[in-house]
Amino acid sequence: MYDIEQIHRPHRTARWSATALGFTGAVALGFASAVTRADEIDGATRAHAQKVAVTVCGTCHGATGNSSQPKFPRLAGQKASYLAAQLKAFRAQSRGDPDAIGYMWGMASELDDSTIEALAAYYSAQNAEPSSGGNSPLVSPGKQIYEQGIAGEGVPACSSCHGPDAHGLTDFPRLAGQHSQYVLKQLASFQSSMRNVAVMHGVAQNLRAAEMQAIAAYLEAQP
Ligand code: HEC
Ligand code: HEC
Repeated sequence: MYDIEQIHRPHRTARWSATALGFTGAVALGFASAVTRADEIDGATRAHAQKVAVTVCGTCHGATGNSSQPKFPRLAGQKASYLAAQLKAFRAQSRGDPDAIGYMWGMASELDDSTIEALAAYYSAQNAEPSSGGNSPLVSPGKQIYEQGIAGEGVPACSSCHGPDAHGLTDFPRLAGQHSQYVLKQLASFQSSMRNVAVMHGVAQNLRAAEMQAIAAYLEAQP
């Protein structure tokens, strides 16, 4: 076993307006309080996690997390704290749309904390390969929403949390290169609260289907 070092970050000064979104900033970010650095994971745990990643998870997510099938999210280059939080949410059965239940609850039920941290470190260290998206006419309107939000509809700029290049910021997941079909489904799940996360429910609640499609096309096209 290894010690989980608590890294206490100063509270992030929000560039987005929490009040405008109707929630308080700290919500949904509890996962960021404890992060294990890759170099703190012992060799045996790391080797075990890599084997699980390649032989088990790789069937769907690809050996390096660059899945080619749109149903299976890309994990390569994703933020480690986000990956670990999602695996714990599947294990706790709190991330609950039908695909999460059908595919991931069983997968995560057998994972202990140290394997979860090592799997998260494994995927976050992989290079995100460029996706096949990019030529859709939706990319340009999607970019506008991503960077500026939709003022009249209370939709905030996605870039303020997910980063200008969509590579994620410490506490917020990477979205660049993600399969558009997967992103679309997550936005719909946040909107309906089937995936029950207050912060993203606030963001997605007023998005229309066509706007979600544009954002998803833009994100898939990003390197
Ligand atoms: C049989 C296919 C399958 C296998 C095997 C599988 N997954 Fe998944 N995984 C999925 C699907 C489908 C989703 C998307 C669930 C959803 O839509 O909510 C997912 C989602 C995830 C997510 C959330 C990604 C995000 O961007 O939020 C993580 C993390 C993850 N899987 C890790 C793993 C790990 C680690 C393993 C191996 C222990 C694994 N998966 C094995 C199908 C699979
Ligand atoms: C206030 C900060 C904030 C803003 C603004 C924001 N997000 Fe998020 N987003 C989050 C957080 C936090 C998560 C992780 C939720 C969780 O823990 O499950 C997330 C998760 C997501 C996910 C799921 C990623 C995955 O791999 O499953 C998608 C897709 C997403 N956001 C899209 C968007 C889009 C599109 C916008 C702009 C319209 C946006 N977000 C604006 C904070 C934000």
